[in-house]
Parts: sequence; structure tokens; C-alpha cells
Amino acid sequence: VRTAAVIPAAGRGVRLGPGTPKALRTLGGTPMLVHAVRAMAASRAVSLIVVVAPPDGAAEVSRLLHEHPLPERTELEVVPGGETRQESVQLGLAALPDTIDVVLVHDAARPLVPVDTVDAVVAAVRAGAPAVVPALPLADTVKQVDPQPQGSPEPVVGTPERALLRAVQTPQGFDLATLRKAHDTVVEGEGATDDAGLVERLGSPVVVVPGHEEAFKVTRPLDLVLAEAVLARRRA
Ligand code: CTP
Ligand code: MG
Repeated sequence: VRTAAVIPAAGRGVRLGPGTPKALRTLGGTPMLVHAVRAMAASRAVSLIVVVAPPDGAAEVSRLLHEHPLPERTELEVVPGGETRQESVQLGLAALPDTIDVVLVHDAARPLVPVDTVDAVVAAVRAGAPAVVPALPLADTVKQVDPQPQGSPEPVVGTPERALLRAVQTPQGFDLATLRKAHDTVVEGEGATDDAGLVERLGSPVVVVPGHEEAFKVTRPLDLVLAEAVLARRRA
């Protein structure tokens, strides 16, 4: 079985605020994307990593990644991304050779995922699950609302039972043929917020394995503070 990782890194990071594209912002002096690539390369299962760079930044990302060498067993490729995450993942999948059986899709914005989480996802796919997502129980209660214009109070429509909910992370792992089919089948404009969501629409089973607190996504400025603290703790 050959396993590859696709790392979508083409987003701007609007919610993080103005600055360089999110994947190139540094944590502990090293670009977030380099952390994410290393996190995938840390798994002995992963033999190929495809980084999906900002559309006009593939050359720069390629140069940057070559300044940070990977283990010899890991091949690296950089391709330009698209307008949406879904498009970027699709462009990454298109770069995978037919010798790959299992693919991980991992957000560059989750730079600190531990290798044990990566390995657990790979193991579950190799054990026969066509789609595997790492996820954690929620700390907060979740309400469904009827959205209103900015500033107006939103009526609550319902409260799903928290114990049945999971917050989903990456890397998500797939049988490559299943994920390709899911991406090829999606209707324009009916995007899902994750790859497993596309597989669910095919009617194929998706299973959850335990995620990890340190696999959180760097989305807003406070997440950068947390990421720096986690890195500092690791280095202490
Ligand atoms: N992504 C991508 N191509 C896009 C949009 C997003 O490859 N057109 C990637 C991001 O680089 C990130 C991952 O998808 O690694 C998760 O997306 P998100 O956290 O939403 O990142 P951004 O889209 O960059 O952030 P924002 O939504 O705040 O602009
Ligand atoms: Mg986004």
C-alpha cells in the first residue's frame, strides 16, 4: 500500500487578518506550512506529499520547502491551488500517480497535529475503512439558529444532543478511488466544508477515530497565540 498526503495551503487566511497567506505565516520562526509538511513526513507510512500552494505562489512555496529538507523516504511535489478549498484538494488529487492507494488530506492550517494521530488515520484506512476522520467531542453546547442580519438577535431553532456531536479535524484519510469519485461527483456550488462530507454524499461509510487537541486549526489571531504556546512547550 502506498500512501500520499495532499496539503491544501492555497487559502488567504482572511480570518487571521491582513498579512502574507496563512500557510506562510511563521510559528516559532518557521512557516506554518513547513510544520504541516513535517507533521505528514513524520509518519513512516507517507511516501509522497503534494502541497497545494497559493495560485500565484507555487514557485515561492517550492523554493521555501526545499530550504527545509524532509526524510529521504519522502517525495515532495508542489502544485498551484484554486479559488476554494475543494478546488485546491481536487488539483492536489490530480497530481497523484496511480501507484497511490491511500490519501490523507491535511490542512496546512493544522501545523501541530501529532504523528500518532496521522498514523491512527492511516491504520484505519488500511484496515478497510474507505473514509476516516479524526474528531473530538465538543466542549461547548451547540445551538441551531435562524440566521438574522448582522447585530440582530437570532432565534434558537434547536439544540442537538452534544454527546452525539464531534468536531472534525484533519488529516482525513481515504481510499484514493473513493475520494476521487467523491470529488468528481460533486455538483458545482454544493461544496462541503470537508472531504469526508463529499464521501458521505456518495453514500459511502465514513468513520471517526480519536483526534487530538493539538490538531486544532489556526483560524483566528488567538489560535496563533495557542500554537506558539504549544510549540514552546514542546521545545521546553
Ligand atoms: N485552502 C486552499 N485553497 C483555498 C482555500 C483554502 O488550499 N482556496 C486551504 C487553506 O490554505 C487551509 C485549509 O484549506 O490550509 C483550511 O482552510 P481555512 O482554515 O479556511 O484557511 P483559509 O481559507 O486560508 O482561511 P480563511 O477562510 O480565514 O480565509
Ligand atoms: Mg477558508
